[in-house]
Amino acid sequence: MSAPRTLLITGIGRRIGEQLAAHYLAQGDRVIGSYHTHTEAVARLEAQGLIALPCDLTQAADIASLVTCITQTTAQLDAIVHNASVWFDDATCATDPDKIHALYAVHVTGPIALTLQLHAALPAQAQRGQAGRLVAFITDAQCLSGGSAHAHYFASKAAAESAARSLAKKLKPHTRVNTIAPGLIMFHPHDTVTERQQRLSLNLLPFEPSPTVIAQTLDYLLACPALDGARIVVDCGYTT
Ligand SMILES: NC(=O)c1ccc[n+]([C@@H]2O[C@H](COP(=O)([O-])OP(=O)(O)OC[C@H]3O[C@@H](n4cnc5c(N)ncnc54)[C@H](OP(=O)(O)O)[C@@H]3O)[C@@H](O)[C@H]2O)c1
Repeated sequence: MSAPRTLLITGIGRRIGEQLAAHYLAQGDRVIGSYHTHTEAVARLEAQGLIALPCDLTQAADIASLVTCITQTTAQLDAIVHNASVWFDDATCATDPDKIHALYAVHVTGPIALTLQLHAALPAQAQRGQAGRLVAFITDAQCLSGGSAHAHYFASKAAAESAARSLAKKLKPHTRVNTIAPGLIMFHPHDTVTERQQRLSLNLLPFEPSPTVIAQTLDYLLACPALDGARIVVDCGYTT
């Protein structure tokens, strides 16, 4: 087992964030998880040792408060995983422009502010040219090609890709910044059998991968010190 690390993962209240937190807790790492809603999953993770802190990434005061709480909790921060997300379609954004603001706040401006404020409060160090901190943005495999029903969502995820490249340049050499761009990882419970089959037929590898593949990719980013400004697509060979 590798030495215990301290990781911050945002959006640990369900699904991928929940399972990433569980994965690193099971490895003996110290996991700080930010949540928007205190779900049963958050309570389960707390029972396993998670340090759970509230944060609405659309609120600057919440981000500042999260940074203060983290600096009071740890003197070491090895990784920041920007996992939190909202998935509003264009029809929803058309009726409520606040949703457009939320897409950019949760995917772009919030993570940039959190990354920079954490560096100011808890500076990362480089040793022999190697970065002491990894920042990983979870984006979306389709964000550069786009999609007809989610222009705002994909544009905000593409902006997150750009933000990651800029932060990699800004924070070198003490911090590495990379992105994981998932395709379909897990269906929603309301997806019908037909919808699932149609979606899987677009992949070269037609299976539902589960958050395990995101944990495996994050393990690789954590382990390989030469990855910086990189984008890893995890999409089972999506073909359109
Ligand atoms: N699942 C997939 O197949 C898939 C595919 C492509 C990309 N991804 C990306 O992978 C990541 C995880 O996906 P997922 O399916 O697990 O996402 P998810 O089910 O939508 O969960 C997102 C998390 O972000 C939190 N969140 C929402 N608004 C927030 C806010 N204002 N401040 C702080 N946190 C907020 C949510 O909390 P609340 O519920 O309390 O709001 C939730 O815990 C996301 O970045 C997503 O875009 C996933």
